[in-house]
Amino acid sequence: MTMTLEGARSVAAVILEPVPGANGVLVPPPEYWPMVRAACDAEGALLIADEVLTGFGRTGKAFGYQHWSVTPDIITCAKGLTSGYQPLGAVIVHDRVARYFDDHLLACGLTYYAHPTACAAAVETLKLYDDEQLFANAARLGPVLRRELDAVAARLPGRTFVRSLGLLGALEIEAPAAAWTRLGHELAARKLSLHDDARRGTCVVAPPLCITDDELVYGVRGLGDAAVAAFGAGGAAATATTAAGDAP
Ligand SMILES: Cc1ncc(COP(=O)(O)O)c(C=O)c1O
Repeated sequence: MTMTLEGARSVAAVILEPVPGANGVLVPPPEYWPMVRAACDAEGALLIADEVLTGFGRTGKAFGYQHWSVTPDIITCAKGLTSGYQPLGAVIVHDRVARYFDDHLLACGLTYYAHPTACAAAVETLKLYDDEQLFANAARLGPVLRRELDAVAARLPGRTFVRSLGLLGALEIEAPAAAWTRLGHELAARKLSLHDDARRGTCVVAPPLCITDDELVYGVRGLGDAAVAAFGAGGAAATATTAAGDAP
């Protein structure tokens, strides 16, 4: 992999989500992150992992990049840092980046910078992750989520793709727009809250990390019922890919 569109050594940084989430949980192949890291090293570019969605256990590891044995220079994070109970984002930098600021002023003054209430929520959230071993729970339930999503795909007509890693999964379903509107109603009727995107044809599942086996199975089977009501039943023609991410 090389950076060909920009001039030699003119790229300051590459920023990537370890698993692009809102675009439909696009789990990259194993060689992808190491190749990006090598290209950044060759060009002198920093590698930034946007862990806002994948950080704090969502994919079954503390940070998503850890699935691929690479070390980014900078990590951005937010959501899971406080589980949303307080608004807080953070930037984590590698030692070699931090050293630069030993004698260079980082002049940024944000109104709520290091807000004590938000930081207290983060400290307590990180403690709970540890006390309740929630990252391990996400790793353990990853194959269960995959198995259940594969089962949903097998119930649907047409082509359905399944992608997941830890407790982040997606169905990509080929269906007309009207059927996606029906899906929204069917999900609401079952009190299921998902990120469904008719334009991309994706339905993203990201349950809380404290979910139990039974709750996860109940929820994804409810999604299957809603999807069958919206898209119709199929079976034989359905295609479930298990190429990327967790195996069932
Ligand atoms: C991967 C990713 N990066 C960045 C953001 C934006 O983060 P924030 O709302 O904390 O600025 C989001 C928000 O949903 C996200 O999912």
